[in-house]
Amino acid sequence: MPRIYLETYGCQMNAADSDLMLGVLGREGYVRTEDPAEADVLLVNTCAVRDHAEQRVLGRMGELKRHKRPGNVLGVVGCMAQRLGPKLLDRVPQVDLVIGPDGYRALPELIAQARAGERTADVQFRSWEHYEDLPPAPSPGMGASPGYSAFVTVQRGCDYKCTFCIVPMTRGPERSRRLEDVVHEVTRLADHGTTEVTLLGQTVNAYHDGTHDFADLLRAVGAVPGVRRVRFTSPYPTDFTDRVLAAMAETRTVCEHVHLPVQSGSSRVLRRMLRRYTRERYLAVVEALRAAVPGIALTTDIIVGFPGETEADFEETVSLVEQVDFDDAYTFKYSIREGTPAVRLADHVPDAMAGERLERLIAVVRAGARRRNLALVGSTHEVLVEGRARRGGWLQTRTRTNKVALVDGPDEWIGSYRRLRFTGTTGSTFTAWPVEQEALVSW
Ligand code: SAH
Ligand code: F3S
Repeated sequence: MPRIYLETYGCQMNAADSDLMLGVLGREGYVRTEDPAEADVLLVNTCAVRDHAEQRVLGRMGELKRHKRPGNVLGVVGCMAQRLGPKLLDRVPQVDLVIGPDGYRALPELIAQARAGERTADVQFRSWEHYEDLPPAPSPGMGASPGYSAFVTVQRGCDYKCTFCIVPMTRGPERSRRLEDVVHEVTRLADHGTTEVTLLGQTVNAYHDGTHDFADLLRAVGAVPGVRRVRFTSPYPTDFTDRVLAAMAETRTVCEHVHLPVQSGSSRVLRRMLRRYTRERYLAVVEALRAAVPGIALTTDIIVGFPGETEADFEETVSLVEQVDFDDAYTFKYSIREGTPAVRLADHVPDAMAGERLERLIAVVRAGARRRNLALVGSTHEVLVEGRARRGGWLQTRTRTNKVALVDGPDEWIGSYRRLRFTGTTGSTFTAWPVEQEALVSW
């Protein structure tokens, strides 16, 4: 049986795409291997969102090319493959295959061609491509995402044009899957024991299949028998319509956590980013979410050092972080992406200044998260037990609000729901104690 070695970088959609590719290859008889030295096909699923992500992949390619032998195939897939296309074949001569996010259907044929000595770059956008008939069901031994929690891509591509962002160029135009198809996939997953689903899209709450909006989708997925938790990422701030808010409030399987990328707290910078909201509008969305879903946890993405960002703009970002009181934030230094509109903006911020702002922002985010989390010590939560934590041998669990808690317990708890009391926090994660010894079977 041929062996596939697959490494994944970047966002959850890439993780979902990797499962899809493993599904495609699994049906062709491939088995997964964790050892690149014994692989017949080596694939690296890449991210292009920041230069740092691409440099990491290039470094990794430098190592993986050692395993390139006559007859085996080394491929780069995903967003960086799409962005660089045939240039990647020139840059890394050991690479046989370069495939963008819309080309995975033809993976077996492209691999066969590469075996025959033909190096190919397939970076065509296929706006109809949803991989609908290619379930990401991992075949036995393929070792894809554990069954109890699954990512489900409901929307591919992006039609928004944030001036810093490469995603519209790497993932192509936006398209939503049909609601019926999503529900069908979730039903199939639930029949196989999945209880938590995360719906994925670049502007996931702008989902619309021509008939149904995101509110319909949340209600439909949330009602699938066996589904106990519904999450989604990433929503766009101004696409929380009243219908979506009502669906979140009224669908008890929808978890009390939203990742709400803000990018900047300065309306001036937001305008230059072509984000479709001001600071005030974003704050109003936060209020609306908190009113609709009491106790909701909020996390965000922030970019510092966007072209033209002044010290005063940056201070507005800091004050927004303090005002919203996020549970956590992913903070990034602006990374210039060739081909995006921001390249042409004036007043690029010196790297050292951006780095210094990033450090200050991280300190503010950490202090806020720590304060919020300390206040949760002593409270009890329903958690899903995800598996063994990497260190210490404890079990890693997650609350509906997306807080991670570690607890001492047996393997049998993995995949079950438990009630835990938080006993301490590092500032970001918790230690916890079981409140009941029995799994929660009804709720
Ligand atoms: N669709 C999502 C985000 C996609 S990219 C959204 O609407 O926000 C994920 C995150 O990477 C973004 O939220 C942004 O904070 C960050 N990012 C994107 N492009 C970037 C760039 N050029 N430099 C630094 N960070 C960037
Ligand atoms: Fe990127 Fe903005 Fe779309 S951040 S993915 S262009 S919503």
